[in-house]
Amino acid sequence: MNVKSLGYIGIESMNLEAWRTYCTSFLGLMDVSSNADELRFRMDDIGWRICIQTGNKEDLVFAGYDARDSDTLSVICEQLATLGYEASENKELANLRNVETLFVVSDPDGLQVELYYGATERSEIPFTSPAGVSGFITGEQGFGHFVLYTKHEDTKIQFYTDGLGFRLSDTILMGGKLRLTFLHCNPRHHTVALAAAPIDKYINHFMVQANSLDDVGFANDRALNLDIPISMGLGCHTNDRMVSFYTKTPSGFDVEFGFGARTVDENWSVAHHDTGSAWGHKRVAG
Ligand SMILES: [Fe+2]
Repeated sequence: MNVKSLGYIGIESMNLEAWRTYCTSFLGLMDVSSNADELRFRMDDIGWRICIQTGNKEDLVFAGYDARDSDTLSVICEQLATLGYEASENKELANLRNVETLFVVSDPDGLQVELYYGATERSEIPFTSPAGVSGFITGEQGFGHFVLYTKHEDTKIQFYTDGLGFRLSDTILMGGKLRLTFLHCNPRHHTVALAAAPIDKYINHFMVQANSLDDVGFANDRALNLDIPISMGLGCHTNDRMVSFYTKTPSGFDVEFGFGARTVDENWSVAHHDTGSAWGHKRVAG
């Protein structure tokens, strides 16, 4: 049994106002914050998808996976228990995250993983992008994807596959040495990618996928107009064929803004690549 999708992420930063500008004016997300110490942003009907809370880690601090329903959540907790991970219910946190039921567990690198069902939907207040983004690909594909560093590659892969039910999409050996493992749990080509690197951060980047190529072009213009550093220019990835570019967030890691990724289905064959991009994605800032 597998989780349905990545539902939300939480980031800790001391630069909340810079993040607010980044998420609204650049990414085009809807600000639904009600607390000065914790920003929240929407990208669809779900009540919130990204949370930025005050703190000095400048990193991802939690990730929430939609487990669909009570039965699926129970099975996933059993799968984790078989591997030696005990997920425990946290009603206070469920309330804070606006979900019905939530269990918490730490992954092999210590990242807080939240498994839930019953996210609050806000279809009565339609999502509108303050930057004019036509919309984001979410629904069954969830929030987006992220790339996580790991110092425990084998157990990390086991946690996400045998534990959370992800399946392998493909691998990329970057520069002959950095191995990336791409995992899916729904039609999105990858929801989690794992980079085997001894780096003291959880996240390399997260990705939001817009509805159109124009959305990517307009976002590129907004980055230039707002002086948001572009870390990798427009390009197309070898594995998911996403056309995207990367900018640096106020916390120092990157966000990929993309369009047009291919999806996976039950006929997918695992592949391997020796490079990350078919064209572009040239590094243009430090
Ligand atoms: Fe990506």
